[in-house]
Amino acid sequence: MPAFTASAPGKIILFGEHAVVYGQPAIAVPVSQVQARAVVRADPGQRPGRVSIQAPDIHLETDLADLPGEHPLAAAFRALFSSLGVSQPPALSVRVTSTIPIAAGLGSGAAVSVALFRALSAFLGHSLEDEQICALAFEVEKLHHGTPSGIDNTVITYARPVFFERDREGNGRENKVELLRVPRPFTILIADTGIPSPTAIAVGDVRRAREAEPERYETIFTSIGEIAREARAMIEAGELDALGSLMDRNHALLREIGVSSPALDRLVRVARSAGALGAKLSGGGRGGNMISLIDPQAAQHVNQALQEAGATRTILTTIG
Ligand code: MEV
Repeated sequence: MPAFTASAPGKIILFGEHAVVYGQPAIAVPVSQVQARAVVRADPGQRPGRVSIQAPDIHLETDLADLPGEHPLAAAFRALFSSLGVSQPPALSVRVTSTIPIAAGLGSGAAVSVALFRALSAFLGHSLEDEQICALAFEVEKLHHGTPSGIDNTVITYARPVFFERDREGNGRENKVELLRVPRPFTILIADTGIPSPTAIAVGDVRRAREAEPERYETIFTSIGEIAREARAMIEAGELDALGSLMDRNHALLREIGVSSPALDRLVRVARSAGALGAKLSGGGRGGNMISLIDPQAAQHVNQALQEAGATRTILTTIG
């Protein structure tokens, strides 16, 4: 029996992280330079029901049955088997690999889920539609993040730039997902602080801070939402001159809610003084990645400045 292979890209949030958890719109785009990959094959020598898992990037080699129930991979298998009504799968082996850095704001958890669901459902003879994949990945995201907005699993499933607004109920069924038109491509340089920072922690801290100061946080989230709407209008009109300054404003607001860090602020500053048109943290923040809007001709110079300032990895990506 052949192996079934599927991949899913990483992602960045261009505008609106954190505020999107509270119903404001946000813009996210896939980053195909980094990918998660799942390969599923039959394991005929083994007893039915045995699922062996290899995930070398996280030093995991185990049987599904030995994985703690709350492990995101265990949750992913459970979600898929239950949605397909599979009580005992044939013996199979799964290898999951990923070039997406973990806890870095690039969507590694959601990408692993999406790749796994695609490969596993195809192997089981029930290839799922994107909508089903996205809904299942959202269930697993809840374990990673606690209260995710759903933007990561959405942009990664559809692998297209999206303008996203979560539904007020938070069950993911009524999310507003619109594909973003990008008539004029633009270039983003992503730089990693090298500091892992689980999104769940930043999201939890923001939740507590918002509970303590609801009005202040609502005002900031509303301003972030307005920036995301303005950015969408500019991107769709191909008028990018002021897009960088919107990124700067978004970063300033993210600092106000306490999700930036000295390392992120430093990379943002360095990118701007090296010629970037704007820069901000991306994703959960505290560590992980920052993004900067650049003129492609300045790429090498900004890249070098970021690396000299301590970026552990940079990725150049074109949107549109
Ligand atoms: C994480 O990529 C983006 C956050 O807004 C969390 C979420 O939307 O689930 C920080």
